[in-house]
Parts: sequence; structure tokens; C-alpha cells
Amino acid sequence: MSEQKNVVETSEAEIAVHWQEEEYITPPPAFVGQANLTDPAIYDRFSLDNFPDYYTEFAQLLTWYKYWDEVLDTSDAPCWKWFKGGKLNASFNCIDRHLAQHKNKTAIHFVPEPEEERVQHVTYQELYVRVNEFAALLRDTAGLKRGDRVTIHMPMSAELPITMLACARLGVIHSVVFGGFSANACADRIIDSNSRVLITMDAYYRGGNLLNHKAVEDEACTIAEEGGQKVDMLLVWQRYPGKYSSDSPPVPGRDVVVNEELKNYFGVRVEPEKMLAEEPLFLMYTSGTTGKPKGCQHGTGGYLSYVTAMSKYIQDIHLEDVYWCMADIGWITGHSFIVYGPLALAASTVIYEGVPTYPDAGRSWRIAQQLDVNIFHTAPTAIRALRKIGPDEPAKYNYTFKHMTTVGEPIEPEVWRWYREVVGRGEAVIVDTYWQTETGGFLCSTVPGINPMKAGSAGPGVPGIHPIIFDENGKVIEPGAGKAGNICIQNPWPGCFQTVWGDRDRFVKSYFSMYNKNPDSKDWRDWPYMTGDAAVQSADGYVRILGRIDDVINVSGHRLGTKEIESAALTVPEVAEAAVVPVAHEIKGKEPELYVSLKPGIQPSPELQQKIADAIVFEIGKIAKCKNVWLVPDMPKTRSGKIMRRVLGAISNKGDVGNVMTLANPEVVEEIQKMVAE
Ligand code: WTA
Repeated sequence: MSEQKNVVETSEAEIAVHWQEEEYITPPPAFVGQANLTDPAIYDRFSLDNFPDYYTEFAQLLTWYKYWDEVLDTSDAPCWKWFKGGKLNASFNCIDRHLAQHKNKTAIHFVPEPEEERVQHVTYQELYVRVNEFAALLRDTAGLKRGDRVTIHMPMSAELPITMLACARLGVIHSVVFGGFSANACADRIIDSNSRVLITMDAYYRGGNLLNHKAVEDEACTIAEEGGQKVDMLLVWQRYPGKYSSDSPPVPGRDVVVNEELKNYFGVRVEPEKMLAEEPLFLMYTSGTTGKPKGCQHGTGGYLSYVTAMSKYIQDIHLEDVYWCMADIGWITGHSFIVYGPLALAASTVIYEGVPTYPDAGRSWRIAQQLDVNIFHTAPTAIRALRKIGPDEPAKYNYTFKHMTTVGEPIEPEVWRWYREVVGRGEAVIVDTYWQTETGGFLCSTVPGINPMKAGSAGPGVPGIHPIIFDENGKVIEPGAGKAGNICIQNPWPGCFQTVWGDRDRFVKSYFSMYNKNPDSKDWRDWPYMTGDAAVQSADGYVRILGRIDDVINVSGHRLGTKEIESAALTVPEVAEAAVVPVAHEIKGKEPELYVSLKPGIQPSPELQQKIADAIVFEIGKIAKCKNVWLVPDMPKTRSGKIMRRVLGAISNKGDVGNVMTLANPEVVEEIQKMVAE
């Protein structure tokens, strides 16, 4: 623990040092005048005294086959059951219930990366037809039923939400794997979730190239089978319907080309399954402190209620808005705030296939102009990139954002101001939403129609969320104390994940055990949720997130486990030890840098360096690409043999390594410093 604490102090906490208390900026009156939520009384209604009943307000945004018997069942603490006994279907809530009034409205604007291709506008009626037909295919061709798991490894396309919603219609639990992940990472998730069906697309555009995505899936199927999970059926959507766009042909007996097979299902309608509120809707894998990614299991009723409310009150989406969240659907942001939340509100959501700066820095703003996007949602890493390569581009295009979001990592006040002044032309309200894969929806954010903004600060807990900051010993750090600590949430909330798939112990241990005093308690007050982030809270209750306290590196707003990367390095037989540290990066926020020591008798070489770098991309994907792979003579170690990541982190970030004389091998520190300085 002391080593982890040091990591926080020497790296992430530096951000706090540079950050001063910023001025309040009041939301533009024009925004407030139309906002969905402007009455501050919500904070009284959603006070802990009224917990858990206040959350029925969120559940009432949905259409239920049967109302719940109990708002919160705590009998299996801390595996909470929300809206127990209630029945609903997510696909019905995102589609069918809108048809009477909005069947002609665009549900999805799909923007292909090549600019010469037309934007596709999928109406709610069209979405209904396509989801039903694909659900019939999943049921009858693939033999899937309620409770089965399916892995989806697809690019950004209209077919991805169609696939997810078809699963939800049948009660099949989907596990979407980020399209950019490698075959190996995909196979791990197939195995962990026991998916016998994998769904993909033959190809997609990225940075001007049509990538052969199907080839990745062939490899994933092979690796999964070696790992004990056979994929019986690979369903392949076509990027261009009617044309097979991959050099890897369908494998007879295993692969089904969806667009051909669908012809057998034209006109078929599938009755939505009446799911219990607590039945799982999907799994989303994320990195944790140990090597294996964990499958965060999200429930149906709680999750959907929560993301619908957040979309309405924090994203402030109205029927007539055009809403563009730039995240990838393969991450939680895309699940909650491209697909489920917006569609449950009958919104029009934009899905862009490719790179926001392709073919040039103006692309994003052209999309905004063409579709008349007025709500815009992205991450600091994208904002930094857009600012760097095209600081004057937004001014050249004719669009008006009334609302903008930043999510996924701390945003520097300077970057925030550019976002507000240049992208938002000073007219848009900004929400800095702090949350996690595990939490389903927002934890902290200003309510845009109520609270003033503060650059670099996420704001208070959203209505209903009651944050608290503890020190290492469980003592409360009061707001305004000027000290950082572990940010926790005092109360359960409906969007929170239900468990780690197949590993309840890990769920309890990672998120609750540190501050729980009585493991047998059935009282929710005894189970604060531990986010794993360090934060400071100012006297007004606004929270600034400093970064992770565990072994997780946030790269471009995405979490990578250091153990995952280190294990990948150790797949190279010559490697004896590996240690990964986060390095500050201008655009990505953080970037992993790898230190490796070799087995006795092995000589360092550029080829070996490359081999290790390649192994990481192979095992995890390009997102985990390391800035450098340093082959060091030895790792700096404590006398008890622990690798001192803090020292390596300081070297990588050109910081102060501190006193190293207590190490077992202090001389190696200087050697490594020299190596890195060259
Ligand atoms: C970080 C993404 C500062 C945090 C939704 C968290 C943030 C991790 C913010 C979750 C924010 C997310 N300000 N830091 N607004 N939002 N984080 O699971 O460290 O990919 O624990 O979910 O990102 O990343 P995840």
C-alpha cells in the first residue's frame, strides 16, 4: 500500500499542484431557458434521507411491463438488486415505445469515414425492422436464447447498436469488445464469458484505409478454442451490404454472412422478452489491478433507468436535438451515451466510423455543420488532438453547440478553456462528467441548468450520488481540507454494475472491502463504493479527480492495467521481469513506458526490443503501444525484492527519484537514468 501511495504522490498529485481554484462560470441563460432540469430542489429530494426511494423518479422514465415490488433489495449486500420484481425490455424501451409518435424520426445518423459516401439516416421504424429481423436470425440461425452470452467485435457502424439491441430483445447478454483490440484480447473475453457465438463485420475504414477486420476474428476463434472456448458460429456483417469486403473468406460450417442470411427473415417480428429488472443486460470488460480484465455485469432495469436519467438531465437531450458522442461504442461511454441513454429518450444519435481528424483537422466540425449537431460529447485526448492540429478550424464552420461534454480523464483548465471558447464559441455549457465502466453512468458532474462550471473540476455528485473522500485509514477528509484521498460513494445507485462476471469475491474485494467494517452487514450504509481514484473536494463540494490509485494507466481516457501490459511482455521468453509506468503525454494524457530485464545470458538488442513491443500490440492492441521499451541491466528493487515502480516513474517523467539509498541496488538507478536521458 505504501508503494501505491507513493505512486500517487509523485505522479498524479502533481496535477493538483498546478491546478489552482478556478473561477465559476455561469451557464448561458439561453441554455438554462430550455434545460430539462433547472430546479435546485432536486438536491433536497435526492438527499440521503430519501434514499433509495428517490430513484423511482429515474425508473419512471421507462416503460415497464410490470412495476417493481421493492426499490432496493439489500439481502445479498453488496450485490444490490434494483427495482426488484419489475419487468421490462431494453430494446422495447429504446425502439418500440417511440414508434407511435416518432417512427419517422432519425434514430441513428451513421457517418462513414470516406467523405464521398453519403450519411445514412436510420429512422426509428427502420431501426425497429432491422433489430427485429436480426433478433430472429440470432434466435433461429444462431440458436441464442435468454441468458446466453455473445461477444461482439465490431467497428463503429449502425449495425453495432442494431446487434446490441437485437441481443437485448432476446435477453441475450452482449459483451462488446472494442474494435481496435487485438485477436488475443478478443479471445480472452470470448473465453471468460463463454460465448459460443461471435459477431463481427468484414471490414471498416480507419484513417483512410479499409481494414480487413475479419482476419482478426479468424485468429480470435483459433486462440479462443485453444483456451477452451470454441466459437461455433461467427456472424459477419458486410460493411457494404451485398459485397464481401475482406480477403479472409467465410469458413464453411462456422461463418454466416449476415446480410445474406437476413433475406430469410424479412418481415419477421420478435416479441421482446419480459426481463426481470435485475437480469443482466451486458458485460463490459475493463482493466483492474490484477492481470485479467474483469467483466463488469450491468443489469437491465437499474442500468437503463440510470443512463436514461443522465441523458435527460446531464446531457440535457431533447427530441429535436442532434447529439454526437465521439466515443467508441466498444467502451462504456458509447454503451451508455451513444446507444442506451439517447435511444431510450427517442433522441437522434450520431455514429462516426473513423478518425475525428481524418482527412484533416476540420472533419469533426464539417460533420457538426452537415448534421446540425448541437450537443457534442468527447474526451480530453480528442480535444487536445483537435486543438494541436487545428486550433483555428472550428471557426471556419457553421455549427452551434449548446452543450458539450468532456469525459474519461482529468482535463487541464487551459484545454477546457480552448474547448469552451473555440469549439463552443463561448456559448455552450460544459459538463465534465466523472465516472467509470463499473458505475454505468455519471458520478460527478454539474447539472448544466443549475450549477456553475469550474474549469478542470467535475463538479459535485450528480443528484442522488453522495461522494465522500477517505484517507488510507478510513478517516473522512472534509471538503475544503485541501488534501487528496480516495473518493468513494456512500450510497448504492441503480447504474452501478452488479458484480464481476463469474467472480463475486473479486467484486467485493476490489470495490468494497477497503472501507467495509462488517462483511455480514445488509445495511447499504456499511458498504461505501471505492472508485480507486484519488480526488480533492473543495469547500463547495466540487471534485477534482487526480487519477488512479491502483495499477491502472489511463491512456487516451481508456484504462489499461499495468499487469496486463507486463504479462504481455512476459510472453516473450527472453524476458525475466517487466514493469510499466505512466508517462505524461501531450495528447493522450498518459502513455505506458516499459522497463524490462532479461534472463541471464541474454544480450539486449534492438530486435529484442522490437519483439517485446510487438508482443504488447499483439496481446492487447495498438492502444497499449509503449512509448519506449527499455532493456535494463536490473530493476531497482527494495530489499524485500519489490520492483520500485515509483523510481522508474520518476526517471521516465524526468522527475526526482528521491532517496534511493535504501534500495537493494541503488547503483542501477543512475545507469537507467543515463540510458533514458540519451
Ligand atoms: C477516469 C470512462 C477525471 C478516472 C467513463 C476513472 C476521469 C476512469 C473522468 C474510468 C473525468 C473518467 N475527470 N478523470 N471527468 N472520467 N475518469 O472505466 O480515473 O474507461 O476511474 O470509464 O477514468 O475509466 P473508464
